[in-house]
Amino acid sequence: MVDVILGLQWGDEGKGKIVDYFAPKYDMVARFQGGPNAGHTLYVGGKKIVLHQIPSGIFHENKINLIGSGVVLDAVTLKKECEAVAAFGIDYRKSLYVSERTHLILPTHRAIDRASEAAKGRDKIGSTLKGISPAYMDKTGRNGLRVGDLLAGDFRKKYDQLKKKHQQILDTFSFDEDISQSENEFFESIEFLKTLKIINGEYFINDAIQSGKNILAEGAQGSMLDVDFGTFPFVTSSNTITGGVCNGLGIAPQKIKEVIGITKAYCTRVGSGPFPTELHDETGELIRKNGNEFGSTTGRPRRCGWIDLVALNFACMINGVTQLVMTKADVLDTLDVLKVCTGYSVNGKETTQVPFQMDGISIEPLYKEFTGWQTDITGIKDFQALPPQMDTYIDYINSTLEISVKYISNGPGTNQLIVAQ
Ligand code: GDP
Ligand code: IMO
Ligand code: MG
Repeated sequence: MVDVILGLQWGDEGKGKIVDYFAPKYDMVARFQGGPNAGHTLYVGGKKIVLHQIPSGIFHENKINLIGSGVVLDAVTLKKECEAVAAFGIDYRKSLYVSERTHLILPTHRAIDRASEAAKGRDKIGSTLKGISPAYMDKTGRNGLRVGDLLAGDFRKKYDQLKKKHQQILDTFSFDEDISQSENEFFESIEFLKTLKIINGEYFINDAIQSGKNILAEGAQGSMLDVDFGTFPFVTSSNTITGGVCNGLGIAPQKIKEVIGITKAYCTRVGSGPFPTELHDETGELIRKNGNEFGSTTGRPRRCGWIDLVALNFACMINGVTQLVMTKADVLDTLDVLKVCTGYSVNGKETTQVPFQMDGISIEPLYKEFTGWQTDITGIKDFQALPPQMDTYIDYINSTLEISVKYISNGPGTNQLIVAQ
């Protein structure tokens, strides 16, 4: 049986914390897409750690952590992260597995990402510059190199061939940075990667399902960054939604049971692209300050705004969400007025549907206003003890979505999670 945890907005919904919270119930945690563009924050014994490539179950004993074939893997980041995890006393050699079909991010992928984002006359996506889009382009373009290729004798030859192609692309950008240092690091790191458990991920996971093991698929990014259903072209390059679990891990759809979707009590976005409920005023600043809304991977300030029920409804629909988690509710503790976006006015016409194209058109969010609870909720453990204004806020959200909030996160600590009744 496979359950999924994924983000319903533009990423950073608190997936790391929620995976860490639920991990004890599972035998395996598997990443199915994305790469080191992800930054999943966990607190281990009060110490903060941000995971980019390793699944967020790594700190739990006797759990298998699988980097699935739908992921794009940066060996340099992985090596550093393994070292960071080992410093917490974790024996990753025992618990970390890598699918041989996982595509590799090469130093030239990162260079192409940088060059293409720096190029004039193009829409800047505001990518994390981790080489994600070039690596996925090489996968769908059928040029990419996979972890399994590292084990064959001709890897260097294949690498040099692909590098030549990449050099041609870099020449079109007049890119002339010296990448020899990152190449040295890459070759050092792939030697390390080769010493890990490299396996056939699809048999591995299906055998585990067959023998009754419980698996948690951990999403990265968020549904509005999905390459097909997000705010294209301001998206990432993978399928971040439930559908991505099947092709990212090699499992059949009927094996998926619970889809645990995460939304913040408000909205954030890092990087460029449409964000209808974005706040450009002091309330936005206050949310950024209260929520410490700075990118876990890049440190960039996150854009902040009100919760968007149009986008959230859409995300619940395309993912088939069965359990809804609302994180960072405590971030709204000091606000006197809260707003919830219930519809859009698109070029003057009202709708509750996400439009085909969200940039280059006028989208005016339609809001319903609520009184803030202005109470510190971070110590609350019992749903009944939540302030009444918060009940009203959540009841309204529940009545608008087809699913009700089941868990409310009221602080970054793993145990700061209230079960709604
Ligand atoms: P992810 O990418 O979805 O795993 O999320 P990130 O780790 O990038 O960002 C979420 C941030 O919010 C992290 O700094 C978490 O420690 C923090 N966080 C998670 N849940 C809560 C919560 O309920 N309240 C507060 N205040 N912070 C939270
Ligand atoms: P987690 O898993 C938030 C955003 C980037 C950029 C766009 C494309 O921590 O939620 P990419 O590097 O993927 O080509 O960038 O996607 N982005 C994220 N935003 N959280 C993430 O991951 C993100 N991963 C990518 O900022 O706008
Ligand atoms: Mg993050």
